[in-house]
Amino acid sequence: MSGKPVADLITTGIGQLYTACPSPSPADDDRGLERSTFNPELIPDAALASRDGELIFVGPEADLEDAVEHSDAIEVDAAGGLVTPGLIDCHTHLLFAGSRQDEYAMRSVGVSYQEIAAGGGGIRSSVRRFREAGSVELADQATVRLQAMALSGTTTVEIKSGYGLSLEAELKALAIIDELDGEVPLRILPTFMGAHEIPDEYRSDRNAYIDLIINEMLPVVQAQGIARYCDVFCETGVYTTEEAERILTAGQEHGLKAKIHSDEFDAIGGTEMATTIGALSADHLAAVTPSGIEALAGSQTVGVVLPGTTVFLGKEKHAPARDLLEAGATVAIATDFNPGSSTFLSLPLMTTFACSLLHMHPAEAMQAVTANAARALGFGEQIGKLFPGMASDFVLWDADDYRMIPYAAGHPLVIMSVVGGEILSFD
Ligand code: NIG
Ligand code: FE
Repeated sequence: MSGKPVADLITTGIGQLYTACPSPSPADDDRGLERSTFNPELIPDAALASRDGELIFVGPEADLEDAVEHSDAIEVDAAGGLVTPGLIDCHTHLLFAGSRQDEYAMRSVGVSYQEIAAGGGGIRSSVRRFREAGSVELADQATVRLQAMALSGTTTVEIKSGYGLSLEAELKALAIIDELDGEVPLRILPTFMGAHEIPDEYRSDRNAYIDLIINEMLPVVQAQGIARYCDVFCETGVYTTEEAERILTAGQEHGLKAKIHSDEFDAIGGTEMATTIGALSADHLAAVTPSGIEALAGSQTVGVVLPGTTVFLGKEKHAPARDLLEAGATVAIATDFNPGSSTFLSLPLMTTFACSLLHMHPAEAMQAVTANAARALGFGEQIGKLFPGMASDFVLWDADDYRMIPYAAGHPLVIMSVVGGEILSFD
C-alpha cells in the first residue's frame, strides 16, 4: 500500500485550470486611475483527481503522481483545454407550462411587463396553464430545458415553484422538481415561491392569500421536505415589503432560507429588508438605490443580478453591478430563466451581458456564476470552487483561457461536465 489517497476519476492535460477568483485588490491602472485588479487562481498544465464525488487533488500535473494513487481511476485527457468549476444558476423559474411569445410580441411594440401583468397576463397566465398541465408533460418540458443548460456548462440549478399558487399546485410543483433531481444528473435546489403573484381567485382579498401561504402552505411545504428556500416577488403591485417580510420570516420559522425578488422595477425597500432578516440573496436590483447598495455591502446577503431579464424586457437600465462591487457587495449572476421575462438558458451568455452591459470584468463574471452563486444558495463551502474537499463538479471547455467564456458568446465551448465525480450524461 502506498498510503496515498486513491482516486476514482482523474483529469490530466488541463491547459488552464481556473480554481477560484480571490477578492480583487485595488491597484493603479496605466491611466493612474485606481481600479481593481483581477487575479483568478489559474494553474497551467494542471490535473484534478476526485474520489466518491469529492476533489482530492487540484494542482500542477507534475505533482499528481506523488499525490494520488490512480491506477484504477477513470482517466480524462483534457487535451490542453480549460477547466473551471461547474456553473451554478442560482435563480430560475424553470418549471412551467407552455410559452408567452404573445406577450413578447406585445412588449416589442411598447406594452410593458407591468401593463401585461395588470391586465391578467404575465405570471397569472402561466399559473392558469400550469394548473391544467399534467406532471409528466411538465417534467418532460423541464428536462429538455435542463439538458440545454447542461450543454452550456451549468451543473447546479435552483428551481422555484410559483406557477401553482394554490396549496395543491405548489406541492405538485415541488414534487416534480424533486423528481427531476432524481432523474437528471444535475444538482437541483428547490425553492417555494407561493408568493410569486396574487392568484386570480384572491385578487379582491390579498390578505386571505397571504394568510393561506403563512398558515397553510408553509407548514405543509415544510412537512413535504423538498423546498430549501422561500422567495417572494416584492414589487409595486405584487407584494409589499411588509408582506414580504412576514412571509419570509414565517418561511425561516419553517426551515426555509430567505431569498427575494427586489428592486426589479421599483425600489420599495425589499433589498434593505432582506439584509436585516439575513436573506441569502436579493435578486434583480435593476432599480436598487444607494441605500440598497449600502445595505448589501454591509451584509452577508448576496446581490444577484439578472442581465438576461433586463435585456429580454428591452430595458436600458441594468443592475448597477459596478456600484455594487465597488461598494463591497458580493455579486452573483443568474439566468432568471422563465417564460415571461427571460428565456435565456445559458449562463455563459449571461456573463457576456454582464461584461458588455454591466461593466463587470470577466473574472468578476466568472466568480459570479461559480463561487458567489454558490453563496447565494448557502453552498459556498461545497461547490463553486475547485479545491480538495469541494465537490467534484467541473466543466472542460474547448478554450485555453477563462476569458473566452464571456467573450465567445453563443459558441458551443462545453466539451464535458462532471457532477459529483460523475461524467454527465443524459442517456
Ligand atoms: O424574476 N419577476 C418575477 N418573476 C419572474 C418573472 C416570471 C414570469 O414572468 O413568469 C422574474 O422575472
Ligand atoms: Fe425571478
